[in-house]
Amino acid sequence: MSSILVTGATGRVGREVVAALRRAGQPVRALSRRTETSALPGDVEVVAGDLETPESIEAAALGARAAFLLWTAPPVTAPDVIARLARCVERIVFLSAPHETPHPFFQQPNPLATMHAKLDRLVRDSGVAWTIVRPGMFAANTIDWWAPQIRAGDEVRWPYGDVETAPIDERDIGAVASRALVDDGHAGRDYVITGPASISHAEQVRTIGEVLGRRLRFHELTPDEFRRETAEQWPRAAVDMLLAAWGAAVGIPAYVTSTVADVTGTPARPFGEWARAHADAFR
Ligand SMILES: NC(=O)c1ccc[n+]([C@@H]2O[C@H](COP(=O)([O-])OP(=O)(O)OC[C@H]3O[C@@H](n4cnc5c(N)ncnc54)[C@H](OP(=O)(O)O)[C@@H]3O)[C@@H](O)[C@H]2O)c1
Repeated sequence: MSSILVTGATGRVGREVVAALRRAGQPVRALSRRTETSALPGDVEVVAGDLETPESIEAAALGARAAFLLWTAPPVTAPDVIARLARCVERIVFLSAPHETPHPFFQQPNPLATMHAKLDRLVRDSGVAWTIVRPGMFAANTIDWWAPQIRAGDEVRWPYGDVETAPIDERDIGAVASRALVDDGHAGRDYVITGPASISHAEQVRTIGEVLGRRLRFHELTPDEFRRETAEQWPRAAVDMLLAAWGAAVGIPAYVTSTVADVTGTPARPFGEWARAHADAFR
């Protein structure tokens, strides 16, 4: 059986795609720019490649039957990379975002959405079978956002405590992508996938606290305080993008789909289950 190429294989989603494919007994070829330090399981073939060098992606894809594509590079090489992938594989499963979803959270001006829209078109026009997977907020974002504060004390300083999102467990993204890569019936499908429930930022912090056996306090920041407090850590454009999305979602339940269950036969994992699996990241 020929392999399935997984790009972004050392990242949060790609590792879960690799894990789901291995569980399904599929041979995996994992792409990385730093093959020696990939820390992937021993039975995974790790190949070198960089999205900014299209020839390297074609070399990595030769002989593979399908590819999971996750874009984490400037978009300039995307047309060439996707054309070369399409010469090698029979199907592409692309990780995009829910930028077409008619919910205010996803409808704010957002440079990433513009890039994803362009990439979606390239994948749809590639000439091979395609599936687009569009996860909402990753649950793992909360590690970047809150783990440093939670490791340092009992208070999480953050804006929009009441705003609700439906964080998705990266294992569920991996499970959906794996089905689309392996099974029939997913060609031409466009899957918006979310966590199973709409829960507020404050509730997410409380859930992490319960898992850790600690009482965490949510300290509400205004958007301007948040901009000031993150000024030295995160790019201003990323902070403004998040604030716009949260600001538009005030008082509205998060967009929740049943697509994880529909595609995999297993309901999406609740945020508490994700937090238990990642508790060490907050300790
Ligand atoms: N965070 C969210 O809530 C959210 C929601 C929807 C969609 N998304 C999308 O999810 C994607 C990020 O996924 P992630 O969080 O799993 O990524 P991640 O954990 O940040 O990992 C990045 C991965 O990309 C690889 N990579 C980076 N630059 C590369 C390059 N030039 N060529 C080849 N590989 C490269 C890295 O591999 P090596 O370092 O090993 O080469 C690594 O495996 C983005 O496209 C983002 O827009 C995110």
